[in-house]
Amino acid sequence: MDDDLIKLVNKLQDTFSHLGARRCGELDMPQLAVVGSQSAGKSSVLENIVGRDFLPRGQGIVTRRPLVLQLIHTPGDDEWGQFLHLDKRFVDFAEIRREIEQETFRVAGQNKGVSKLPIHLRIHSPNVLDLTLVDLPGLTKIPVGDQPSDIERQIRTLVLEYISKPNCVILAVSSANVDLANSESLKLARSVDPQGRRTVGILTKLDLMDAGTHALDVLTGRVYPLKLGFIGVVNRSQQDINVDKSMTDALESETDFFKSHPQYRNIAHKNGTKFLEKTLNQVLMNHIRDKLPDMKARLNTLMGQAQQELNSFGDEAIYGDTNQQGALVLRLMTRFAHDFVTSIEGTNVDIS
Ligand code: GDP
Ligand code: NA
Ligand code: MG
Repeated sequence: MDDDLIKLVNKLQDTFSHLGARRCGELDMPQLAVVGSQSAGKSSVLENIVGRDFLPRGQGIVTRRPLVLQLIHTPGDDEWGQFLHLDKRFVDFAEIRREIEQETFRVAGQNKGVSKLPIHLRIHSPNVLDLTLVDLPGLTKIPVGDQPSDIERQIRTLVLEYISKPNCVILAVSSANVDLANSESLKLARSVDPQGRRTVGILTKLDLMDAGTHALDVLTGRVYPLKLGFIGVVNRSQQDINVDKSMTDALESETDFFKSHPQYRNIAHKNGTKFLEKTLNQVLMNHIRDKLPDMKARLNTLMGQAQQELNSFGDEAIYGDTNQQGALVLRLMTRFAHDFVTSIEGTNVDIS
């Protein structure tokens, strides 16, 4: 995520916690959830957004329980993961992946079963902003393995549980090598976001399209209208996964792909993982901008309260030993909040 955005959100959250508000609930940052057919590349896309290798990915049904991934901005040099079901700090991200796999097996069985019980994982890192991402099982038609005959309906219900929340940004993933008219993700996204206001279309596997075909029309928004548009990406292939291709190398190949492709050369700057990240930053920025008036009102109330408390100390605030520190802190807080409101009022929170 963008550094400026991380800084802004942290400043907002700090301000509220300095003023004694337990949570910066007013900010109520959106959740991002992926929806798409099985093996469309959902887990790969999420992993790219986080910028770390840690999600199980692969052929067939791999994601069989929702993974609610809470990113928690934590200053310092350390980066670690912590599961809700386990009292242990994971610093090795490959180990996080193994734990997700094991925990999936434990609840959803060995044989392609799906469970709606989520796995909760928190990632603490100085490089993320407080945000929740949800990885979901893929939409499927035909039951396999231990899956019940109504698996299609079950997964649909499960996915809807997450994406119907108005606060959810839907990452609707479709493979470029399947006709967009058959895209299950777009159908489902449209059912909860008919105006296409909070849906980002993501087209994966552009590298796997038949020779002579391309997706220029989709990517330029001429096929399917979405306010936030379509973004093409090239994730790591199964072969890349097998040989442990690094994230950095994968990003580089992706950039090369768009820049050297005769059809995509001119829209290369509006595609790829980096641009997806930029778009999501913009979506989050707009969200914060929408919330600013409420936050300002809340800050003013908190400031009023602080001031009142300060006044009630009276002379003791200045001369007394016990209250002196408290009064000083209050004064500083009030000061800080005031400066803050003034500074964000004048800010054009647009980082594009
Ligand atoms: P999910 O089931 O939707 O979560 O999809 P995964 O992220 O697990 O990916 C499924 C398979 O498709 C994996 O083998 C990935 O390597 C492969 N894959 C995903 N995206 C791309 C892509 O853009 N290009 C290529 N060549 N393979 C991809
Ligand atoms: Na898969
Ligand atoms: Mg998956």
